[in-house]
Amino acid sequence: VVDIRKLYAQTGMFTYDPGFLSTSACQSAITYIDGDKGELLYRGYPIEQLATNCDYLDTCFLLLKGDLPSATESADFHKLVAQHTMVNEQMQFFLRGFRRDAHPMAILTGLVGGMSAFYHDSTDINNPEHREIAAIRLIAKMPTLVAMAYKYKVGQPYMYPQNNLSYAGNFMRMMFGTPCEEYVVNPVIERALDRIFILHADHEQNASTSTVRLCASSGTNPFAAISAGVACLWGPAHGGANEACLNMLETIQAQGGVAKVGEFMEQVKDKSSGVKLMGFGHRVYKNYDPRAKLMQETCDEVLKELGLENDPLFKLAKALEKIALEDDYFVSRKLYPNVDFYSGIVQRAIGIPVNLFTGVFALARTVGWIAQLNEMIGDPEYKIGRPRQLFTGSERRDVKPR
Ligand code: ACO
Repeated sequence: VVDIRKLYAQTGMFTYDPGFLSTSACQSAITYIDGDKGELLYRGYPIEQLATNCDYLDTCFLLLKGDLPSATESADFHKLVAQHTMVNEQMQFFLRGFRRDAHPMAILTGLVGGMSAFYHDSTDINNPEHREIAAIRLIAKMPTLVAMAYKYKVGQPYMYPQNNLSYAGNFMRMMFGTPCEEYVVNPVIERALDRIFILHADHEQNASTSTVRLCASSGTNPFAAISAGVACLWGPAHGGANEACLNMLETIQAQGGVAKVGEFMEQVKDKSSGVKLMGFGHRVYKNYDPRAKLMQETCDEVLKELGLENDPLFKLAKALEKIALEDDYFVSRKLYPNVDFYSGIVQRAIGIPVNLFTGVFALARTVGWIAQLNEMIGDPEYKIGRPRQLFTGSERRDVKPR
């Protein structure tokens, strides 16, 4: 590892690395990925163990504080988050300004950034107490905001949070409940959703996390920085891949399903087509994404619970995966399914509309963004992020008299 800052100070040299293929922009102690082994650790704990033995809020505590909570800390943290699930009543008027057919990610970008206008006692990013309360508010209110965006779209009344439910159960009720009848949380789906949240909670310096860090490095407020992360996550090469993947599966299904997989794969392999196998490939994983394995298991459980074992899209996804894992194009490029390959199928089975998938991802990733933001701001040596450029434009020239 070369410390380019020292090299720059001594020689004025800097590196040219578009896409940050070989440049680390920070030191971090939060999440570790071994892309060759297909290993993911949050604060040293394997993702498989967290997804099996912990709930999402304990995972949030771990990411924020560095270790898993004791039983008392866990109970206190769950209670604290529950106390902050409601959003300022004025937020619904802000929401009302959007078109009903607005993409939920457009709404979320606005609502999350807009929180800075409502919670003035948590906007000073350099004040640790402000950051702490902003963290709790964001984690607690994201499910409420995502569910509000959904209810607004479908024209149903907003459901206020019910804090005796779990984090995932509360989200399900706010999404699918109505004031007309009591909502009963299905424990299998609740656990599956909680697991989806855990799997998406952090993933070191991906595009949206780096965006949050860069944005926060200017000293802006935490809500503005997280809203920048939401905006970045939206893209189909990043968090938007779950929506793009489901749309891809539906298109193949409409064209003939499993019988058309071979033809589709030929299109993907023809670079001039511009078609990619969405939900495949990763900048860091050059082996199976461990989250994809867990997501496939979750998918099995959810489809079984809902009696959807013969779901044609699940069969299609498995057929695509099988062909890809045996095809030289994918094998030679080390392209494997990523977390988004199966997450769309699970979410769709649960009843979450396709264009809300990335919103659910944003909800879950919020804690990772905050943990990374805190780590950066808490470092006394952090500087405003300011990439250099390799200028390729015109040399100095003069404007001719006109
Ligand atoms: N389908 C077909 N070919 C692919 C795919 C894919 N999904 N992904 C990469 N490739 C090919 C590239 O064309 C390239 O081929 P080449 O060597 O012949 O030029 C090679 O594999 C390497 O790919 P890069 O684009 O250089 O890899 P990079 O690290 O820049 O991109 C990315 C990673 C953006 C995730 C890419 O694999 C992709 O677009 N995948 C589809 C979208 C997706 O699923 N994104 C979600 C990522 S996970 C997440 O954000 C939560």
